[in-house]
Amino acid sequence: MSEKLMTEIHKLDDKGIAKAAKLLRKGETVSFPTETVYGLGADATSDTAVAKIYEAKGRPSFNPLIVHVPNIKSVEKYAILSLMGQKLADTFWPGALTLVLKLKPNSKISKLVSAGLDTVAIRMPAHGGARDLLRASDLPIAAPSANASGKLSPSEALHVKQSLDGRIPLILDGGACAVGLESTIIDVSGDQPALLRPGGVAAEAIEAMLGCKLLRADTDDTAPKSPGMLSSHYAPVSKIRLNAEDVQNDETLIGFGNVKNANLNLSENGDTTEAAANLFRILHEADKIASGKIAISPIPNAGLGLAINDRLKRAAAPRPNE
Ligand code: TXA
Ligand code: MG
Repeated sequence: MSEKLMTEIHKLDDKGIAKAAKLLRKGETVSFPTETVYGLGADATSDTAVAKIYEAKGRPSFNPLIVHVPNIKSVEKYAILSLMGQKLADTFWPGALTLVLKLKPNSKISKLVSAGLDTVAIRMPAHGGARDLLRASDLPIAAPSANASGKLSPSEALHVKQSLDGRIPLILDGGACAVGLESTIIDVSGDQPALLRPGGVAAEAIEAMLGCKLLRADTDDTAPKSPGMLSSHYAPVSKIRLNAEDVQNDETLIGFGNVKNANLNLSENGDTTEAAANLFRILHEADKIASGKIAISPIPNAGLGLAINDRLKRAAAPRPNE
């Protein structure tokens, strides 16, 4: 964890928004209100900015994050809006609905946002202040709920302060959130739409609009598992060996810290936040150059090391078809 910050609470006015936009453009995190809950935002195109979200939240794992955009048009820069996605966006945006879409190839969204998946969750919030901030920063903003890991989602600026004081530079105070409940998440990246998380928009309203039933993880075996579950996560093609103190001839070595013979390095300085920022990009790169085997240096279970090790353990676990 980096040095303790002074957390300022600023009114959600023009001055506050300008301040927040400046911080976001510098790669810092800012908490801002949406109509659902307060988000903890950072530049979704910057690995290091996104790593700061995980650091501030103290998340023990890398769940993919929701990207917030100011209008439907900006979705096209990053993702493929399927026909179903287009219909849902036209009807329910701006609002408490998040769409999981296929990422565009070479999309600028950080791999840490999508936790290495080939999909991305996107939402256009209805909150005027949130949209002003999106426009002022001119960035897609990745934002999970602004609470420390395992704590309730915040619907007031004070909740954010209680949870994240000293960990983020700024909270924009826009009063209580109108919905107070997180967005509904619908996966429209496949043939059949699936409900990944119930939330602010009723599933029935979505089914009525689409004229079909949503797949549901709790009742359909074929439905994508709920967010953050193993199956929704990126796994490298190569076999992974963890806590490698040495490297075999047929292995590609991902180092951490001062590892002389590493092919790639998560952080030469041994900084877990830097390593988190690099994690998914380096796993992808290693997968490309490896001839089937990847070894990874030990990473301490401190700071973001906990989340990195959680992710790597799952990447190294036996695959369903083996
Ligand atoms: O209302 C909300 O959605 C709030 C406000 C701030 O917008 N945000 C929020 O974010 O609830 P968070 O990080 O607490 O929840 C994001 C959820 C997680 O359950 C995550 O697994 C899922 O979205 N998610 C993100 N990207 C995904 C993807 N590509 N595929 C499947 N699930 C995804
Ligand atoms: Mg949350």
